[in-house]
Amino acid sequence: MNLRRHITFGIALPAFVALAIWSCSSDDPIIDSFSPTPYVIPDAPHFPKILNIPEDNPMTVEGVDLGRYLFYDGRLSGNTSKDLLMSCATCHIQENGFEVGIDHPKYVGGITFGLPIPDFPDGKPTPHFMLSIVNTVYNSNGYFWNGMINESNNSLGNENLGVPADSQFNFKNLESLAWLTITAPHEMNSTVERSVATINAVALYKEKFKAAFGTEEVNYDRISKAIAQFVRSIVSHNSKFHKSLRQEAELNPLEQQGHDLFFSEDADCFHCHGGSILMTTNDFFNNGKDATFDPEDHDRHFVTGDALDIGAYRAPSLINVELTAPYMHDGRFKSLDEVIDFYSEGLVYSDYVHPLMKNVRQKGVQLTENEKSALKAFLLTLTDNELIQDPQFSCPPELKEWSG
Ligand code: HEC
Ligand code: HEC
Repeated sequence: MNLRRHITFGIALPAFVALAIWSCSSDDPIIDSFSPTPYVIPDAPHFPKILNIPEDNPMTVEGVDLGRYLFYDGRLSGNTSKDLLMSCATCHIQENGFEVGIDHPKYVGGITFGLPIPDFPDGKPTPHFMLSIVNTVYNSNGYFWNGMINESNNSLGNENLGVPADSQFNFKNLESLAWLTITAPHEMNSTVERSVATINAVALYKEKFKAAFGTEEVNYDRISKAIAQFVRSIVSHNSKFHKSLRQEAELNPLEQQGHDLFFSEDADCFHCHGGSILMTTNDFFNNGKDATFDPEDHDRHFVTGDALDIGAYRAPSLINVELTAPYMHDGRFKSLDEVIDFYSEGLVYSDYVHPLMKNVRQKGVQLTENEKSALKAFLLTLTDNELIQDPQFSCPPELKEWSG
């Protein structure tokens, strides 16, 4: 079972502290030198209590810290020129709610497997638009727009990417996602050997690997585990909306009207984006954007083979939606106004539209101008300004010149 209740950490913490105190007086060199501190996901009231943390990668303060450094380290990428380095943070930008906010993020080198790509002299774009990476620790339905990284996958290592046939490359979890990204030609375009050797040569990592994993050894397993720990630590629960639930803030009348619309059958957003205060069900739906579909699309159908999933994508969390334009998996809407107009009067019928798009025959939920303004005002209360400025998630000063 890959799920672990965060309460386990709550109970484990005193035991670890006791172990650490005991270990100071012990002669055992292993325990003496290696006693990482459990990292506790902040207990955000109303958030799901089930956390998606694999048994073999429990979160520790030292692991999250190492992961933060690696997340911001462009030397993990395949580029050798300092100007072209690319890190996770090149595309997942803290100020943008860990989204990039551009049309086609891509690896900037324009070279794949040592060869130029004729069609993409400036780099090969990713097939999908960006996803934010907040609150991934609460998602057990699968990562990416189509959920292709999920726990039920068997070993699907992609030999074309030079990925070893190893459990870390099973496309099951954030650990495998980190390596997929580092080796994907349209993302960081490196190889396991190259990235491990480069990180191994950077002096500051010696202590950090030792603190996180007990020895200085750098290997792909540890790199991916640390990055995954950092990504899991990015939890957003301090938007005005979240604070209003804790009685720490109050929505103004327009925002409250939008809130009530969002959670009512009138605007009907909550069936897919509500259900919990993650502002998503993390489920997959065809939300009525198109009448025809390209069999080459990397939609949910691409993963499941089920015709009912044609044109379906994961409903993304709307937390920080103000910061993550353009919208949808293909970035077709440039603003929240366009998105709201779409749900109001722009829906397109097809045989694959999800039954929860109940008003598709009327082209949408038909909102008045006042209701549209209210809905937008509510969506703007979902911005977590504390998260986007939190030094805990920002680029470590030593890495500023390397983050890409
Ligand atoms: C070239 C830009 C780029 C870089 C570099 C990049 N990503 Fe991403 N990331 C994306 C895109 C685009 C998606 C959405 C992909 C999809 O759904 O098909 C994504 C999706 C993700 C997701 C899934 C989020 C979810 O909720 O499903 C995670 C997690 C993630 N990236 C982590 C990372 C990490 C860790 C790194 C560094 C090792 C990284 N990314 C580097 C572009 C990038
Ligand atoms: C039937 C489920 C469903 C309903 C109902 C629904 N959505 Fe969505 N929503 C989705 C899916 C699925 C996506 C992603 C689709 C894609 O990328 O192609 C999405 C995407 C979005 C996005 C873009 C987010 C991003 O980061 O790109 C916004 C904003 C949004 N919805 C707002 C709303 C609002 C406001 C309502 C109510 C008026 C609503 N949704 C109703 C399923 C739904």
